[in-house]
Amino acid sequence: MAARNLTPKLSRREVLGLGAIGAAGVAIAMTGCSAEAGDSGGAGNVLKSGLEIGPVADVPVGGGRNFEVEGTKLVVTQPTEGELLAFSAICTHEGCVVGCRDKEIRCDCHSAVFSMTDGEPISGPADGALQNYPVIVTDGVIYTA
Ligand code: FES
Repeated sequence: MAARNLTPKLSRREVLGLGAIGAAGVAIAMTGCSAEAGDSGGAGNVLKSGLEIGPVADVPVGGGRNFEVEGTKLVVTQPTEGELLAFSAICTHEGCVVGCRDKEIRCDCHSAVFSMTDGEPISGPADGALQNYPVIVTDGVIYTA
């Protein structure tokens, strides 16, 4: 599914459930903050709010799935039902694309393993955490926050 920009349709306030969208059906999973611009989902990349990432139903509970939003590669995990977390899918070791399996985020290039709950490195050569992206879920769809 191609990600698309909802910014023209929804203001940040609406996406955050503070405006026209009620609190019911809205869950917020703030996972951290981003810093500086980039274009591949690597460290410091910024995504504006309101970008559709994909349906919650595509992210298995206890697992994750990769998405790409405006050229930024993300791995979205759901450690427990309703807890949606998004991280850069770019390995902090040498930049390969990571993916979630066996309840961890893994890089097949040199076997780095990251936590699916906070992006911190668990084992392997990577010594930096995967960048966290704040997300929001509205009506079963994950958006950047
Ligand atoms: S690039 Fe991921 S472990 Fe080396």
